[in-house]
Amino acid sequence: MLKKLNYTPINEEPVQQSSSIILSLDDNNNVRTKEPENKNKCNTIVPTKIIDNFFTQEEIDYLLQLQIDYPYSNGKTIGLDPQLPKDFLEREIFSFDDEPHFQPAIQMMRQKIDRWFGPEVIIGGWHILTSYFPYRAHSDAVFGEYGFDENNYAAWTLIIPLDDYDTHTIVFDQHSFTSKLVPEYVKHHEPIDIIDEYTYNKYLSLEATESMRYFSVDTVYKWRKAKCFAASRYKFHASDNHIKNGVPMKRGVIVWTAAPNDFLAK
Ligand SMILES: [Fe+2]
Repeated sequence: MLKKLNYTPINEEPVQQSSSIILSLDDNNNVRTKEPENKNKCNTIVPTKIIDNFFTQEEIDYLLQLQIDYPYSNGKTIGLDPQLPKDFLEREIFSFDDEPHFQPAIQMMRQKIDRWFGPEVIIGGWHILTSYFPYRAHSDAVFGEYGFDENNYAAWTLIIPLDDYDTHTIVFDQHSFTSKLVPEYVKHHEPIDIIDEYTYNKYLSLEATESMRYFSVDTVYKWRKAKCFAASRYKFHASDNHIKNGVPMKRGVIVWTAAPNDFLAK
């Protein structure tokens, strides 16, 4: 039985931390609490990497053909975003599990990770994402998911576009070791008011303006075919509003990695 990838809906209400201590109230009476402790104890934020030509055209064709040959592996997401009609298909996720027909692809990905990141790096999960509606800001690290546990910290999320798209992934400077939800992050931090109107309108127009007061932009990555963008899973990131920019769909390989706690990323 194929396991569907478990992305927490990002508009979900944050989980109340019973161990939280109220630290202060800001001007809007928002409660600030102490951030929960990182269960992994290892506070490593891996450096961002960009690798050109991560896949050859032949490899891209091979992966896309697998998606055609084994369509049952698809996970479909509908009805998460409140802005959309209930039956709107927001994204399709084609997961690579341990089935024999995926072994050549798995070996191929293993070789790429060995070469560019190191043989110690764990592939926690990977899939082809076909996105019809932008992902809002979130991070990719939840303790217990995709290789992140007591002994292995959450390392890189890789994005490898399978074509050229006029769209961007925006990575923020801010991170969380304990939650991938923006409302949870906001609860533990003060606003910094750094993102300007131009940046907001160009790249972040789907985000709540109030939430964006707590973030600053680290990197804007433009989706280029086979150009791998890898950033720490702990860092918050978001898609631009590609629908508004006339890009109805984008497709790429997404990989979540982890690394042993004593692994030093280069
Ligand atoms: Fe993500």
